[in-house]
Amino acid sequence: MEEQLKLVFASYKGEKNELIPVLQDVQEEIGYLPDEAMREVARFVRVPESKVFGVATFYARFHLQPRGRHIVRLCCGTACHVRGASKVATKLKDTLNVGVGETTEDMKYTYEEVACIGACGLAPVMTIDDKTFGKLDPDKTKNIIENFGEAPEGGEA
Ligand code: FES
Repeated sequence: MEEQLKLVFASYKGEKNELIPVLQDVQEEIGYLPDEAMREVARFVRVPESKVFGVATFYARFHLQPRGRHIVRLCCGTACHVRGASKVATKLKDTLNVGVGETTEDMKYTYEEVACIGACGLAPVMTIDDKTFGKLDPDKTKNIIENFGEAPEGGEA
């Protein structure tokens, strides 16, 4: 991690107003913001650690825990909600064995719930990374999750 931080810090002067961009770059480099990295950032931009932790927890774009290789986002906007997103959510959480914002044990998926993603015609909708899956029902959703990014095992269609 030291090397990764050095790499990021090399493009900055170490000033207070660089806090957010530095955090963004550290997150991009490491994948999330470990406590130790935030302490180093605090020293580097010369602000109190509490300020760095405050900023990192305030903005949803910052992640304080390791994230999965794939990000599953279920839309919980109105159109998706009325078309059964909550049943899909239950199935997703059961299948992944995680709660909202959590990552599967094998680090494959992080599960998030989001507001309208602008594909209401396909409700209920989820995305995995940059792929969109619409008109979901619980079984279809489970199938997508189990087969995403890997050849299906056992040859099931
Ligand atoms: S409410 Fe889900 S895509 Fe708009």
